[in-house]
Amino acid sequence: MKITIVGSGYVGLVTGTCFAEVGIEVTCVDIDSKKIENLKKGIIPIYEPGLEPMVIRNIEKGRLFFSTDLKSVITAGTDMIFTAVGTPPGEDGSADLQYVINVAREIGRYMQDYMLVVTKSTVPVGTAEKVRQAIQEELNKRGVSIPFDVASNPEFLKEGDAINDFLKPDRIVVGIDSDKAREIFERLYKPFTLNGHPIIFMDIPSAEMTKYAANSMLATKISFMNDIANLCELVGADVNMVRKGIGSDSRIGNKFIYPGIGYGGSCFPKDVKALIHTATEYGYQLSVLKAVEEVNENQKLVLYKKLNTYYNGQLKDKTIAIWGLSFKPNTDDMREAPSIPIIRQLLSAGAKVKAYDPVAIDEARQRYFGNQIEYSNDPYEATIDADALLLVTEWPEFKFPNFNVVKKLMRHPVVFDGRNIYSKQEMKEIGFDYFGIGIPS
Ligand SMILES: NC(=O)c1ccc[n+]([C@@H]2O[C@H](COP(=O)([O-])OP(=O)(O)OC[C@H]3O[C@@H](n4cnc5c(N)ncnc54)[C@H](O)[C@@H]3O)[C@@H](O)[C@H]2O)c1
Repeated sequence: MKITIVGSGYVGLVTGTCFAEVGIEVTCVDIDSKKIENLKKGIIPIYEPGLEPMVIRNIEKGRLFFSTDLKSVITAGTDMIFTAVGTPPGEDGSADLQYVINVAREIGRYMQDYMLVVTKSTVPVGTAEKVRQAIQEELNKRGVSIPFDVASNPEFLKEGDAINDFLKPDRIVVGIDSDKAREIFERLYKPFTLNGHPIIFMDIPSAEMTKYAANSMLATKISFMNDIANLCELVGADVNMVRKGIGSDSRIGNKFIYPGIGYGGSCFPKDVKALIHTATEYGYQLSVLKAVEEVNENQKLVLYKKLNTYYNGQLKDKTIAIWGLSFKPNTDDMREAPSIPIIRQLLSAGAKVKAYDPVAIDEARQRYFGNQIEYSNDPYEATIDADALLLVTEWPEFKFPNFNVVKKLMRHPVVFDGRNIYSKQEMKEIGFDYFGIGIPS
């Protein structure tokens, strides 16, 4: 079987590499020629654990190819094409579909035989129909009649554990409207279904909706717990205990109920916004999701507000150490990371910021802060002469630092723990003032 993936970012590259890993011949296409040149040499543009050796292995086995030329790839023959390009939020919060539709038009311009065109990008209900229309318009312009199907196969992988998620999915969701498309998907995913990973076939709009509903449900759990955490602080309850208390109820479950400083990343914020926008277009108000978004926006600044209160609004010329810049551990992705609004607030309050992250420093320097902040080579260096330490991303290497050393390095020993990874009791014993999320001070 030969397939093509268009868009070789976090999703496209993992998807293509994992399909190659199970024996399928894959060509990953991207318009970014530098990215493709690097990928051909086995140089990976993103930080994703385990991806690099898998890419190199599959290139060497002759199953994984990279190209910037979609026309040649289509002309050479492919059984199906996946679109995995970005769908960033537009100004009004709706998903910007220009990249998805551009790819559909290209496919229509070059296809020669039957083609199954699959959208893997996260797209609103109705997008498959727009893709179908764009392809048909291009075929009409060419004056040819070539059969094709469209389908929706949303992706549920998590950055940081993407390979595991892709190779061992909880479920594979596929939206189709033809028997032929169903047969192709059954063949494609056979290595996965044989291993007991279920495939759920449904109509196309339901598949498109499933992805948004899944991300919105997860975002809702996070905002709910953050709201409860904020109330815990006011009433003198400990959210860590409350979390254990409710998480042991199997109807609730113990995942995604950790309070923190808000969800970020390339998916939850934009997908929540896009679903709210879709509902509005249909004259419906998603009241729960609007509240989810509002709680999240406030939560991203909770650490800053605690710090500001601690110093009575006098942050000018204070030196603040930041541990963690990526939106979560095990990725260099900083899209919508809570570190961004926190650092921006600190800078506008006149504070000096010293940041350390195991992998996201280049990203922070190039895309977000340039030379406005100082970047440290290790976590301890960031705390030298700091007036406060903010734990923003819970990378494993921050879990057990030597706080006796940190205390000696800092000008003033206070820690604001945005992920509740330290023990208040232990921190106080070492001599720190300590503030977590949802824990009475
Ligand atoms: N990142 C995640 O964790 C994740 C998880 C599930 C779903 N998704 C969804 O998957 C989609 C892709 O997300 P991502 O994070 O991989 O994006 P990304 O920005 O990392 O990658 C998109 C890639 O598409 C390329 N591209 C754009 N237009 C193109 C064109 N016409 N032809 C070829 N390549 C083109 C870009 O150069 C880029 O390399 C989005 O819809 C996203 O919502 C993302």
